[in-house]
Amino acid sequence: MCGIVGYTGKEQAAPILLDGLDKLEYRGYDSAGVAVYDGEKIQWMKARGRLKILREMTHDGQILPGTCGIGHTRWATHGIPSNENAHPHFNETGTIAVVHNGIIENFQKLRNRLAEKGYTFASDTDTEVVAHLLDYYYKDEKDPLRAILRTMNRVEGSYALGIIFQDHPGQLYAVRKDSPLITGKAADGNLIASDVPAILKYTRDVYFIQNEEIVCMDADSLRFYNVDGEQIEKESVTIQWDVTAAEKAGYEHFMLKEIYEQPRAVIDTLNPRIRDGKIEIEELGMTDEEIRALRKIYIVACGSAYHTGVVAKYVFEELARIPTETDLASEFRYRNPILDEGTLVIVVSQSGETADTLAALREAKKQGIRVLGIVNVVGSSIAREADDVMYTWAGPEIAVATTKAYSTQLIAEYLLAIRFAQARGTVSEAEVDEMLAELRRLPEHIELLLGNKERIQRFANRYIAARDVFFIGRGIDYAISLEGSLKLKEVSYIHSEAYAAGELKHGTISLIEDGTLVAAVLTQEDLYKKMISNMVEVKTRGAFLLAVTNVGNTEVEKTADYVIYIPETHKYFTASLAVIPLQLFAYYVAIGKGCDVDKPRNLAKSVTVE
Ligand code: AGP
Repeated sequence: MCGIVGYTGKEQAAPILLDGLDKLEYRGYDSAGVAVYDGEKIQWMKARGRLKILREMTHDGQILPGTCGIGHTRWATHGIPSNENAHPHFNETGTIAVVHNGIIENFQKLRNRLAEKGYTFASDTDTEVVAHLLDYYYKDEKDPLRAILRTMNRVEGSYALGIIFQDHPGQLYAVRKDSPLITGKAADGNLIASDVPAILKYTRDVYFIQNEEIVCMDADSLRFYNVDGEQIEKESVTIQWDVTAAEKAGYEHFMLKEIYEQPRAVIDTLNPRIRDGKIEIEELGMTDEEIRALRKIYIVACGSAYHTGVVAKYVFEELARIPTETDLASEFRYRNPILDEGTLVIVVSQSGETADTLAALREAKKQGIRVLGIVNVVGSSIAREADDVMYTWAGPEIAVATTKAYSTQLIAEYLLAIRFAQARGTVSEAEVDEMLAELRRLPEHIELLLGNKERIQRFANRYIAARDVFFIGRGIDYAISLEGSLKLKEVSYIHSEAYAAGELKHGTISLIEDGTLVAAVLTQEDLYKKMISNMVEVKTRGAFLLAVTNVGNTEVEKTADYVIYIPETHKYFTASLAVIPLQLFAYYVAIGKGCDVDKPRNLAKSVTVE
């Protein structure tokens, strides 16, 4: 996600802004910029790339005089990383500057309306729409607060905004909806930021801005307003964290922070693609006719991204009735795949830089096959080389073990499967409505499961000395088992295997000994009975049985030694829920063993080599 900072006070603003942006670097970004009011007008500089480029351009802020300004580090969502798309963004006269963290979900509609009113755009971003909307309402209201309130009424989505108006020197405005925003009172001025690390050097007295609250500040005062424009009182909080803890927003590790960011990441990936109850995947450059002409889908990826593909295979085939094959990119690229017309290759990658996945994309394109990328990093190699790209909006993922990116990849695949099924007429509109309603309920179900963490931590502590752990499932539950096993292996270094439950008796069951932990995933009701009998098989050989199953399936308690229930959801979406306790289990086993969960040995966040 992006980082925003702002300062107004007695000191020069630019060095403070750059310093604050430095402290937000951990959030990941691809460009940065600052805007400062110099006493006459707003001066600004912005650049693609690392913050040090901006520092060099501005001589550490020395050539941008002024005591009031805003700064930004951008994690691209709409518009590739570039100087033009870097923040701050402005109205056409350059008298209003805006920095933004979040996603404006209805930006295209607003952009079209503003264009009809004669507005022109200098970037491809959703944020620039806010700058012009503010301009439009400010011309009418001549008052920043009222212009902000009217803009808030039109904008849908998530935002933390920092805003300065040239006509109001020394004043800094900020507003929040869903994206984090704090303000702080320092000795020589007042500040805003996306996150605590950016201002800890200047103050530990922080105000956490709540949704739809507006802040107006100048060098000496800090005022808060509600969405009705009424002034409100707020209490400050004294931050006890050190900077390292603050970077993780108080979580002990990035992995846990990102596990907890999954509800937000799912919402950000889902909402912009469901408009007025209908699916709108604007980035899918395929007509219904082209979708109907599809005869085969390959989903190609590595690691956890591959595991989402195994889930998607079942969903695509059951929903859209399109033969779907999931392949490891490292295999696909060398097996001279037989790809003919009517084939779509979908490559899935969080980083968008995985060498094997990129090579698989190029192999498909060499054979003239259309490639759709599902990618989390805007402007990455896979995003640039795919024919179409559907971004997941998980925000930057710092921990090597993917969690929130995995969850958003599933969301993208579910949406594609429903969209394909719609085009091919293999689902009714009533079924689509039901599935979309269930997708919208996933974030709250994930929140509920996250509330389980202490219980899972206690269970995990029993297995920090485990040598072998097995995960078994059938169908989508097999795909979930693959991810649960990889999570445990990569962060705790405990050997684990995921097995199609029906396959156990063909060899692996010989490895089951007294007390061996076997995690059975059973979320597919039509396979419950089969799974129970597989569970009995391992139990009679001494296994300790953990079951992850749907709430209400209490029958499983006759066989399982420990049960984790997941909320009821559509059978195709259970992976999004069953994976949560498995992520937490892996995390707590790993920290129980004292492993470096964020940077596990031998692993890299993006495998850019073969
Ligand atoms: C997942 O926890 C691992 N870090 C790894 O398997 C990862 O999913 C794989 O390397 C693919 O990475 P990508 O999504 O960036 O292509």
